[in-house]
Amino acid sequence: MKTLIIYYSRTGTTKKVAELMQYTLDCDIEEIVDTKNRKGPVGYIMAGRDANMRTLTTIQPISKKVNDFELVLIGTPVWSWNVSTPVRTFLQENKENLKQVAYFCTMGGNRSERTFTEMEKVCNIKPIATLALTTKEVLQNQFKNKLVAFVNNLSKEK
Ligand SMILES: Cc1cc2nc3c(=O)[nH]c(=O)nc-3n(C[C@H](O)[C@H](O)[C@H](O)COP(=O)(O)O)c2cc1C
Repeated sequence: MKTLIIYYSRTGTTKKVAELMQYTLDCDIEEIVDTKNRKGPVGYIMAGRDANMRTLTTIQPISKKVNDFELVLIGTPVWSWNVSTPVRTFLQENKENLKQVAYFCTMGGNRSERTFTEMEKVCNIKPIATLALTTKEVLQNQFKNKLVAFVNNLSKEK
């Protein structure tokens, strides 16, 4: 199954998961790049506000053609108990081109379910699998078992 991993990462945690996933699946990968500067404390506050308000941003054009892929794995950090604004924007802009999806997120605490429900609402597609990891699990490299379980779930659904 032709698979694409697409993700946004402000501080590298979700990126680390996406890259190990790409290595495991040997598939295509693309990072969502936000044109809005989200660095520093002001960037943090604006990010939380944007996610909470469900606003959209301007993301750089995606180089891959999303509808060339049968399965797209979409990764986001949790922002304000919600999907991050750049990933919301990607879902909104590409919902017509997505076939099957799976979602993954990283977060400081918990409440991943709300984020996944929100992602599903934006693109109106139920994921075939989900993976939620804490920042701590990722930084301490304690997520390989969950990652393998997620990848196995994908192949069960294929
Ligand atoms: C604006 C903002 C809001 C956040 N809100 C939450 C939250 O509601 N719940 C949570 O568990 N973590 C929250 N976090 C923490 C991030 O989800 C977590 O650090 C994540 O792993 C960062 O991923 P990244 O390094 O890929 O950007 C928030 C982080 C930011 C920047």
